[in-house]
Amino acid sequence: MARKLVLDCDPGQDDALALLLALASPEEIALAAVTTVAGNVPLELASANARKILELAGRPEVPVHAGCARPVLVPLSTAEAIHGDSGLDGVDLPPPRLPLASEHAVRTIVRTIAEHPPGTVSLCAIGPLTNVALAFLLEPAIVPRLAEIVVMGGAIGLGNVTPAAEFNFWVDPHAAAVVFGSGAPITMVPLDLTRRVRLNPERLARIRALGNPVARACADFLAFYDARCRARGDGEGAALHDPCALAWLLRPGLFRARRARVAIETEGRFCRGRSVVSFPADGDPAEVRLLTEIDAEGFFELLIARLARF
Ligand code: RIB
Ligand code: CA
Repeated sequence: MARKLVLDCDPGQDDALALLLALASPEEIALAAVTTVAGNVPLELASANARKILELAGRPEVPVHAGCARPVLVPLSTAEAIHGDSGLDGVDLPPPRLPLASEHAVRTIVRTIAEHPPGTVSLCAIGPLTNVALAFLLEPAIVPRLAEIVVMGGAIGLGNVTPAAEFNFWVDPHAAAVVFGSGAPITMVPLDLTRRVRLNPERLARIRALGNPVARACADFLAFYDARCRARGDGEGAALHDPCALAWLLRPGLFRARRARVAIETEGRFCRGRSVVSFPADGDPAEVRLLTEIDAEGFFELLIARLARF
């Protein structure tokens, strides 16, 4: 039975690939809505990119709801240096034909969870957690109704924006603190895991060789993303952060996990957005499922197989 999913994202090339992976997986995912949040790029661009990808995939019926244009408290910081000025540089897709849905993303998250039976709706959050935090504050009753929220963000070790913090949690640390303090059933996908899933020339060539228009567009925008990451010192190739989060929903057997406690630092010159991870003794509270290992080759085989479906 496919699980009902709301994908909250800030496209970004890796978000776009995660969205395509969801669209190519109807056995596992019934995509109820895409919600967008400011992060990699400002909200308007993230919202346009989400619609461009849906139209590229021939799925214009999936609604895109725009959410928060800035974090809860701190000013917005974006990542055009990695993703390009459009957030989806590397490919020139036509402007979206479809309008944004009129409902604000925060209300979409609340409504979708509230109108379905408890335990039947999941969230996958692959951008800053602003929309999710506000939804949890607007209607706390949705938290226990959630089947699961998969969150790409945080790190046990070094961050990627500062030594302490990963981008999604650094951009909106207060939202991350609300979500991780909510009691929601969180599956956390940290940098320590996603950095094990890297692009390389052979993998890019395999994606391009699939030959369908979606795969060719992926190869183009991923090549841009890979080049930008390498230019900024990521010599191993760009990490596919957000598709890892989506892949958990498709093939949990590709992963290993541990129960953990996670607190989010919201203050501090050096530690804003830090995810403070501990592994309590058996029997002590450990609310978060933390993904610790992935079969990277198995992930890529899944990715290739699903992109081949377009
Ligand atoms: O740190 C990686 C995360 O930040 C990914 O979600 C990427 O898209 C950016 O949003
Ligand atoms: Ca993202």
